[in-house]
This record gives sequence, structure tokens and C-alpha cells, in this order.
Amino acid sequence: MNAADRSGTGRPGVTDHPLEPRRPVGVKLVDVTKVYRGDVLAIDSVSLDVNPGEFVVLVGPSGCGKSTMLRMIAGLEVVSRGEIWIGDRNVTEVSPKDRDVAMVFQSYALFSHMNVEQNLAFGLRTRHTPREKAARLVGEVAESLGLSELIKRRPSALSGGQRQRVAMGRAMVRQPAVYLMDEPLSNLDAKLRTVVRTELARMHKRLGTTTIYVTHDQVEAMTLGERVVVIGFGSVQQVATPRAVFARPSNLFVAGFIGSPPMNFAEVTWDGSRASAGGHPLPVPPYVAKHLMAGRRAILGLRPGDLHMVDSQAGHEAVWTVRAEVVEDLGSSQHLVFALDAQRVLTDGLAATGAAAGDLFAPSEEALFTATLPAEPLVTPGEKMSLAFSTSHCHFFDVETSLVITAELDTSRGIPSSGDRGQSGTADTSYRPSAEASRRHKVQ
Ligand SMILES: Nc1ncnc2c1ncn2[C@@H]1O[C@H](COP(=O)(O)OP(=O)(O)OP(=O)(O)O)[C@@H](O)[C@H]1O
Ligand SMILES: [Mg+2]
Repeated sequence: MNAADRSGTGRPGVTDHPLEPRRPVGVKLVDVTKVYRGDVLAIDSVSLDVNPGEFVVLVGPSGCGKSTMLRMIAGLEVVSRGEIWIGDRNVTEVSPKDRDVAMVFQSYALFSHMNVEQNLAFGLRTRHTPREKAARLVGEVAESLGLSELIKRRPSALSGGQRQRVAMGRAMVRQPAVYLMDEPLSNLDAKLRTVVRTELARMHKRLGTTTIYVTHDQVEAMTLGERVVVIGFGSVQQVATPRAVFARPSNLFVAGFIGSPPMNFAEVTWDGSRASAGGHPLPVPPYVAKHLMAGRRAILGLRPGDLHMVDSQAGHEAVWTVRAEVVEDLGSSQHLVFALDAQRVLTDGLAATGAAAGDLFAPSEEALFTATLPAEPLVTPGEKMSLAFSTSHCHFFDVETSLVITAELDTSRGIPSSGDRGQSGTADTSYRPSAEASRRHKVQ
């Protein structure tokens, strides 16, 4: 007898053992566009392939279209153009209840007149799951979420974190093909977030259910996601592993969004033979020199953790002498902030909008750089010091396109050559934001 026969549900891979892993399915978005009433372009031609069993995190600033994407996959929002596939089914026109997905929302609506057990079992009752099987499922889910002791309590007698776990348990008992989670931890305090986050990761490891998880919290994105989809202005900016979006951001938007404290930016100046940034010498690799020699402008990106305090210039590729303006003592490390003789670069948004290059710079603000240094020796504000870095840690972006400049970049056109895309492969795919989407967003 195969699994489907045993379950009696007719769904492949479903067994009547509570919480048994199912055969995972993939989710595919093909050129999906969403235009809300009033001509609001919320999602612009997004294509995305989520592998069977994968945990993918959609991350991006408020209003970038994360919830819209998730709600379209759930069937709660009509797709304006394009297709959505779950497994080998085109579900674009399929009603939410027939999509075999379970969604967990930020604002979990539990039934206040039902206890935990009844809340967990509700979805099973409406689906006519046999009583005995429902009881076993509820028992197992309650146990895995640490809710067994609370099973007879009503939501009003639970903490926020416990309520959130009940909401997640409701999705879990249904054993859907795909979990869709929209900021499910945002109502929890910092400590509980960490606990439930770990629980989520364990649950995914055990069940291997395809999960698409929305957050604007970078730590959640980096720790939970097998792949991270960075969204900005209704478009996919980069799809890659957490490590790759951090180490190889494909454009200024991703570079500025991922990482805390954020990446430092300053324009590179070129005097005909040498590059500098904010009045400091800057050794640049040959492909960047070529870019500058061709009369193109570039922005340097340098992560705070890639700057190190040194005693002498010897043995370092680049050493800048700077004066500490602000020192933030975090106990285990310190943030040292210093000013550069350069304009502040605005990466959050304008960079990805296809706006005029001049809009990338804040005219009256100087660029501030942060260095994350070991706790000792503690620097005092006003102190002068030498900070070293390696050119291999420098990121360079084109001012016109906001795209990263790579050795493979075709400088005559300013777009990545096929070599650059090829190097990314399916696990690390970058997309260019559409100027159309960005313009519409700016108007709103
Ligand atoms: N029902 C609607 N009608 C018109 N515009 C909408 C509607 N819902 C969302 N929008 C717009 O679509 C865009 C994307 O919204 P969405 O809720 O998907 O963003 P989000 O990334 O989930 O943001 P947040 O992080 O704040 O939850 C926003 O500009 C928003 O104002
Ligand atoms: Mg949202």
C-alpha cells in the first residue's frame, strides 16, 4: 500500500502518521506583476524559483511588495499578469483553499472563545479530518511547540509568544505543501524571537516543508534563509545564499540594505593616474581603474568589519589616518565613526530607481564611515589613528547603473556581461530593478 492510499486524502506523500515529512514541492513565479487599484504597481514582473523543501526568505524595506508577493502565492490577492505554480500545478486561478498552502500572518487571529487545543484543531475540523487523527496531530504539534501544558488555556491567558506559537501550530497541523509566513515573529520581544526562530529552523529541518518567509529583519533573513530574496521597489534585486548577498551584493541597494552597521560608501575620485576616496589614497584593481579611465564614476563600498586598527603602514595595501568623531562602546566591540571629505551616498532607494546620478548624493552631508573594532584598546573621541583594509574587501559600484563593477563587467555598456551572470548560477542570481517600477514607486 502506498502512502497516498493510507492517508485516504488522495494527496501524494501524505501519510496518516502525524507530522510525517511529505514529498516537498517547489513554488515558481513566472513574470508575476501586481497592479493594485489606482494604478499602484506593487510587483513588477517578478520571476522566482523556490526549490522543493527550500526555506526562502523574502527581505526588503517596508512597502517593497513582500506581503503582496506572499498573498499572491496564497491566492489571497489576484495576480494582474504572470503565473504561479506550486509543484506541477498552475495555481494562478485556483482558490486559496485548494492551493495546499498554510499562511501565518503577523497579526495572528486566534479564536478567543476556544482554548489552545480547539484553536489548533479548528482547521482540521473544517476539513473533516477524522477525530482520532486530529487529536494525535494536535497533541504532537502542541508538544513540538512547547504548548502541551497550556492546551486547555484560552488565548487571553497566554503570553504573546505563546499565542504566536499557537498560530504557527495551526498552520503546522494542516501539513500543507507550502508554508507562507508573513513576519510571524514581529510581535515578539527580542528574546522570544530568538527562541521561536530556532524552533522554526528545527521544524523545517525535521519536516522539510517548502517555506517562504517574509521579514524586514536582516538577522532573521540571514539565519533562517537557505536563500535570501532581496526585494526593493517591487522587483527582485538579488537572490542568493545569505553569505553571498553579504559578501557579493549585486547592486548599491542590496549593499546598503544587508549588513549592520551598514556598508560605508564614498565616491571614488580619479586624478588621471591614481584613485582616492574622501581624500584618502585608494588602491583599486585594474578593472576599476579601467572603468574610471573610461570616464565613468564609481562608488567605493567597505564594510565596517573590514577596517582594522594598525600601528604602522608596513605590510598593508591601504592605510588611512583618520580622526575618531564618535565612539560607541558595545562591550564586546566598539564602533568608531569618522568623517570623509566626500558627499554622503544615498543607497536606500534612489540607487535602485534609475534616478539621475546626482540624486545619489546628499549635497550638504559628508560621508561618515564606521569601523567595527575589537573592544580593546578603547578609542577616545578626537583620537587620531591608522585604519587598514585590503582591496579584496572593497566593493565598487557604477554611479550610473548602481550595479557592482566586476572584472567581467563590460564597461562600454555598463551592464554585466554574460560571464558575470554565468558565474552567479541559479543559486546566486541577480536581477536589475526595472526603472518603470521604481518610477511608479517614487510617485506614490
Ligand atoms: N490593497 C492595496 N491597494 C493599493 N495599494 C496597496 C494595497 N496593498 C498594498 N499596496 C501597496 O503596494 C505596495 C507593497 O505593499 P506590501 O504590503 O506588499 O509591502 P510590504 O513589503 O509587505 O511592506 P511591510 O514591510 O510594511 O509589510 C505598497 O506601496 C503599498 O502601499
Ligand atoms: Mg508586509
